[in-house]
Amino acid sequence: MSKNDNADRTRGPELVLSTALDKGDAALVIGLISASSEDADTSEPTLVVGDGVLDDAQASEITAALTALGATGSHGEVTRLAAPATLGVDVVLAVGLGSADEVDDADLLRQAAGVAARALDGFDAVATTLSTVNLAAAAEGFFLGAYRFDEFRTDKTKPKKNPPARITLLAESKSKEAKAEVDHAAAVADCVAIARDFVNTPPSHLYPEEFAARARSLGTKAGLNVEILDDKELLAQGYGGIIGVGKGSSRLPRLVRLTHAGRKGAKKVALVGKGITFDTGGISIKPAANMDHMTSDMGGAAAVIAATILAARLDLEVSVTATVPMAENMPSSTAQRPGDVLTQYGGRTVEVLNTDAEGRLILADAIVRACEDEPDYLIDTATLTGAQMVALGARTPGVMGTPEFRDRVAAISAEVGENAWAMPLPKELRGDLKSRVADLANVTNHRNGGMLSAGLFLQEFVADGVAWAHIDIAGPAFNSGAPWGYTPKGGTGVPVRTIAALLADIQTNG
Ligand code: BES
Ligand code: ZN
Ligand code: ZN
Repeated sequence: MSKNDNADRTRGPELVLSTALDKGDAALVIGLISASSEDADTSEPTLVVGDGVLDDAQASEITAALTALGATGSHGEVTRLAAPATLGVDVVLAVGLGSADEVDDADLLRQAAGVAARALDGFDAVATTLSTVNLAAAAEGFFLGAYRFDEFRTDKTKPKKNPPARITLLAESKSKEAKAEVDHAAAVADCVAIARDFVNTPPSHLYPEEFAARARSLGTKAGLNVEILDDKELLAQGYGGIIGVGKGSSRLPRLVRLTHAGRKGAKKVALVGKGITFDTGGISIKPAANMDHMTSDMGGAAAVIAATILAARLDLEVSVTATVPMAENMPSSTAQRPGDVLTQYGGRTVEVLNTDAEGRLILADAIVRACEDEPDYLIDTATLTGAQMVALGARTPGVMGTPEFRDRVAAISAEVGENAWAMPLPKELRGDLKSRVADLANVTNHRNGGMLSAGLFLQEFVADGVAWAHIDIAGPAFNSGAPWGYTPKGGTGVPVRTIAALLADIQTNG
């Protein structure tokens, strides 16, 4: 782990803004734009080198070498060269940026920077010219791509080579604004890393009590007000959803509340995140295959904790309170049964027809509690349904809620490259949540629109007049495939950047 200027920073590379290569830089990352399709056969890909970094001779030497190696500049392509002897670095790494008209797409550039960061293990300090195209995107992409999680490896399997500890972002000038952009990108990416770390920490080590303690420690350090309710307080105060889900486990549940107070009169945003530290399904137990994926079932909680810490670090002029229910969903003789009826915080009764639909039960309590603060906006996020992946795949969150706010969340999410997609809450499905004995059942008796009926269940608990968005991240919170772009294996940190951008947008536009 590197030392860096930002005292709040927990991990990640140091980002340095500079107008020239530093002596210590061992590699230079440049961009490569592919030739347009009409003249692809005849013309060479174009280098993105930034003014004054390379002289003409160096640039043509690199272009000739890349052409000889067959580099095309397509997305994700990485080509390594020995650097021209006069350049002062050992290696040039060319990363594909796609065609000229794609270069303005911030997320494609962020992805390219992430690809480069993942290809630079063993280089302690590197410089890049990608920052001359889009400084903030290059900074964020490098930081996100340089993420590693080796906490549970001994020297036997710990990689010998580390990602770069310092990244020099080349720029034409070192203006105050440019420095602020880099600091902002580092702050955001560091909070993404906080969320990823939480998701990547296994359930043996991260259970409700420990999760709450870590949230308290990080939150307090960032200047947040922290309140934690333990199982006794939850029971006494009527949090029947959290108690019901948590009572099958010897590791008892918690409710964490973290507050960043903006100035008086600032908009109030409530965040709620699902914190199931492991989801076996409970008595409605899940099949064994891929059950380990359920280590990510606290991805929503991780994201809202990280986003609230970010609000404090950036001192946003928005009041943010995260209400985070934490429980472990286990089968045992003390577990809730299918057919049990519980009383949610606030008094509504729910028939638990399937103990594996536990996320909505803990979220309902938290949503009612969050609404007592009379927020202007409420954003909840959860690894809520397998149906999210059936509908949208592993990388696209579904967002439901108050139509106008839902669409605003989807638009902002697209801007940051997390790509949450607006989904409806069809009225006819609401009727299928009727219970034989209680106010509401926790599941329908069919599988149609499973992501949407979960959203409809939550809607029942949102107070009137609150603009609400529910982001289902069942797939997007956890990458079970190979790393891609700036996304590593395991915890992804989605949707921290959507929430961060939303808070900034609310600060500016109300
Ligand atoms: N945590 C799961 C949802 C999930 C599935 C997240 C796959 C990530 C990957 C959730 O608690 C769950 O089990 N939901 C059930 C709901 C069903 C019983 C209505 C599901 O999706 O099968
Ligand atoms: Zn479940
Ligand atoms: Zn779950």
